[in-house]
Amino acid sequence: MKQKITVADYAQRITEALPQGVLLNTNGDKHNAMVIGWGGLGTCWSVPTFTVYVRENRYTKSQLDKTGVFTVSIPLDKADPVITKICGWQSGHNIDKVKEAGLTLEDPQANGVSGVKEYPLTLECRVLYSQCQDPTRLPESIYKKSYPQDVDGSYPMANRDPHTAYIGEIVAAYIIH
Ligand SMILES: Cc1cc2nc3c(=O)[nH]c(=O)nc-3n(C[C@H](O)[C@H](O)[C@H](O)COP(=O)(O)O)c2cc1C
Repeated sequence: MKQKITVADYAQRITEALPQGVLLNTNGDKHNAMVIGWGGLGTCWSVPTFTVYVRENRYTKSQLDKTGVFTVSIPLDKADPVITKICGWQSGHNIDKVKEAGLTLEDPQANGVSGVKEYPLTLECRVLYSQCQDPTRLPESIYKKSYPQDVDGSYPMANRDPHTAYIGEIVAAYIIH
């Protein structure tokens, strides 16, 4: 069952959950869930938005660019270490994360991308705008820490690749029971 929510009522929960890792779900060739720690609720073009930041070589990026839709799944309490380990360190290029992490998919309401029951707070989004960032415009300390040029783009954590920001309109928001 889906309990419809007002996103603003959960702004604090979403903001606190992000640094621990929430899930960015995409589909296309297959369902894939990637852990993200950066992102944000907002308002743009007068609609409620959620923005995600995805590095160039993530499997997630290829799916997002194909479909233009994503669903964010947020835990109501703590992040699950098994989900973090598999969905934050392994790639959909190589494995089926739904199977490996034991995720239970919930049929979507509006955008065609399932959320997961294990992380029940759900934001279905459709991409309104995307833009590849230029890391050289960042303060040097952030550039050096977050974009080490001697680390290949296939590495699951910080590497040389820039992020693309995807601003998604939130088209449905609910808690899965
Ligand atoms: C806590 C945490 C936060 C992360 N945040 C992001 C993020 O915001 N953007 C990103 O591109 N990768 C982030 N990652 C790394 C991806 O989750 C990781 O590279 C993953 O294996 C990519 O999966 P994919 O290739 O299936 O898309 C994060 C990983 C962890 C553990």
